[in-house]
Amino acid sequence: MSRVLVTGGAGFIGSHLCERLIADGHEVICLDNFLTGRKANLESIARHPRFELVRHDVVEPLLLEVDEIYNLACPASPRHYQANSVKTVKTNVLGALHVLGAAKRLKARVLQASTSEVYGDPQVHPQPEDYWGHVNPIGTRACYDEGKRVAETLFYDYLRQHKLQIRVARIFNTYGPRMLENDGRVVSNFVVQALRGEPITIYGDGSQTRSFCFVDDLVEGLVRLMNSNCTEPVNLGNPAEYTIADLAHKIVAMTSSKSRIDKLPLPADDPRRRRPDISRAKTVIGWQPTIALEQGLGKTIAYFREAMK
Ligand SMILES: NC(=O)c1ccc[n+]([C@@H]2O[C@H](COP(=O)([O-])OP(=O)(O)OC[C@H]3O[C@@H](n4cnc5c(N)ncnc54)[C@H](O)[C@@H]3O)[C@@H](O)[C@H]2O)c1
Repeated sequence: MSRVLVTGGAGFIGSHLCERLIADGHEVICLDNFLTGRKANLESIARHPRFELVRHDVVEPLLLEVDEIYNLACPASPRHYQANSVKTVKTNVLGALHVLGAAKRLKARVLQASTSEVYGDPQVHPQPEDYWGHVNPIGTRACYDEGKRVAETLFYDYLRQHKLQIRVARIFNTYGPRMLENDGRVVSNFVVQALRGEPITIYGDGSQTRSFCFVDDLVEGLVRLMNSNCTEPVNLGNPAEYTIADLAHKIVAMTSSKSRIDKLPLPADDPRRRRPDISRAKTVIGWQPTIALEQGLGKTIAYFREAMK
């Protein structure tokens, strides 16, 4: 049994990770400032004797005693990370510095929740981990993309300079229960619009592609990576590629919705294609997604039906 800190643990992915770590027998400290996270996400474990919830902002130093740290604190949806872009940079950069400082002091293992956004609007397809990316450093998404890139830089500097036990997961689009209704991410947007019978809004012509990983698969990948010896960045995502238009039609059909599909202008720096190359995850941590899109969408739709009652 280890004592594990999950920053951003009250959020969408973090709450599923905390539940998994409790189920695995660990002591879990969840740290969150509740910017996009909610106590309700932790209902199933809130009173568990091995679980503790701490309100804290990662831009401030951490003084906790733990063996492992999963650093997830950072709003993931453009609507939230752009609402206060300077704070997003601080969360990424100061947050990384503080978890790394704590990990150095405690000789703890530390995993960074990085992102496929480090590849920007990729010119290589699918994206392997050795692709350096194509990122606009001054655009409206830069606070997140560049913030995450600097965080990775810091992780590798701590590895080289202090021999820290680092792990870096580059997470691709993940979806599932507990995504926020209003955060503008494509799966939750479409499901909520379909259930309300409102028009489904597609940005651009809908031919841009994405890959969608169900949250349970992703959590399995994070845990396996933490438990491995791999210090290289590892892509975690589902390589099955769908156009946004396909996704919209699938969700309309699965919800038996009468929603029509509306097309709006494409936002700035929106990547055309995004699909992980997961060869490294397969060989190094023996991981690949197991949950098909229809199955994951079924669970997500069931969650939103209940949450929107
Ligand atoms: N969901 C995805 O598709 C995806 C893809 C790539 C990377 N990621 C990364 O995974 C992590 C979790 O994403 P998510 O989808 O669960 O997002 P989320 O917004 O649901 O969760 C982020 C959590 O971090 C907390 N937080 C934000 N700023 C904080 C701060 N300064 N101090 C303490 N807590 C803070 C929020 O309150 C929230 O609970 C993020 O780091 C995100 O960048 C997610």
